[in-house]
Amino acid sequence: MHTAHTANTVITLELGHYRLLEQIGTSAYGMIWRAAGPANTRDVALKFINQQQMARAEAPLREHWVRSARNEIAFLQALEPWDERHIVRLLDSGEHQGLPVLALELLATDLGKHMVALKSRSETIPLPRLLGWISQINQALAKVHQYGWRYLDLKPANVLLDWGLQNVKLADFGTNRYGIQGQTHSYAGTANWQAPEQFFPAAQGLYQSDASSDYFSLGAMFYFLVTGGLPLRFCSACGNAFRSHQAAGAEWLRQAEGGRIPATLHEDEAARFAAALPVSARDAALALLRALLQADPAQRPRHAIQISRMLHAILGTPPERHYFDVTDPVRGMQRPSVNNGWAGGRVSAAVTSRSA
Ligand SMILES: Nc1ncnc2c1ncn2[C@@H]1O[C@H](COP(=O)(O)OP(=O)(O)O)[C@@H](O)[C@H]1O
Ligand SMILES: [Mg+2]
Repeated sequence: MHTAHTANTVITLELGHYRLLEQIGTSAYGMIWRAAGPANTRDVALKFINQQQMARAEAPLREHWVRSARNEIAFLQALEPWDERHIVRLLDSGEHQGLPVLALELLATDLGKHMVALKSRSETIPLPRLLGWISQINQALAKVHQYGWRYLDLKPANVLLDWGLQNVKLADFGTNRYGIQGQTHSYAGTANWQAPEQFFPAAQGLYQSDASSDYFSLGAMFYFLVTGGLPLRFCSACGNAFRSHQAAGAEWLRQAEGGRIPATLHEDEAARFAAALPVSARDAALALLRALLQADPAQRPRHAIQISRMLHAILGTPPERHYFDVTDPVRGMQRPSVNNGWAGGRVSAAVTSRSA
């Protein structure tokens, strides 16, 4: 029988003991607490499976959630230290009351909460910082893809921000799917931020996504950040359809659109996006946005290097000499590959993700 967590409860994991301080995040799936770690160490973020939800869920869903927590631990454990520049670091893990728990480095907030705070103060994000974040997310996705996974749940709530507001880290790897060559899979991700191929099923009710599906969500994030927190109408339409019809929402929306998939970027949205940018940045930024939001995955950028170059074109600044860009095969020094002795920490493909 699972008991709810309370402050001062001590959680024992493989490497240490952690005393719960305050709950800092919750979702349908997880519950995040700030916790004090061993003496002279920084507080950490402990990620638990949401027990209240767990208690209400059917057995197959409970098993799914446990498997995706183990999936997340296995993925983060497979990373090398140099991979964690823009991916949240796993510090410890273990089981509590028979359920997996992750101890993660603690960051300040997430981009969703940060955007709400900025809006309440009518503040905007300085463009160099915004482009820096998009570049860092691009680097994090490049790492996930390099390890052979699709991320499939890119959204503001899954991008953590450090106290200096300069660095972001990708978090929440429970929805990862192994394989980046379009292997079909069951429904995965969040309808409000998904690529068309993640929301509209291919054959037999399965979904055909690939690495470029993450690029579409990067485009939706780019639009959201530049416009001061607005979702694309395409994303809202998918989100509303899913809320009212769950997986049947795709067919419902297609019917409502006369049998077609809704436009992923409307011209008035493109105009609003451009208007939010300095004149000198508009053309290059709009070119990147249009490329990322192509409905046809084959029309999107082929890899992170292309995105990185289009990003640098926006400010017209070549990458700094010491700029470390994992997406660049030339400068991706020490990138783990067979050439420099990396034997592969890949996780078995059998692990399935937590989406129904
Ligand atoms: N390492 C962390 N540091 C600070 N806040 C975090 C951290 N990890 C998660 N959070 C907060 O908790 C929320 C949920 O975490 P997430 O890993 O996305 O769980 P879920 O799988 O439930 O979506 C995030 O949106 C963020 O606000
Ligand atoms: Mg999340």
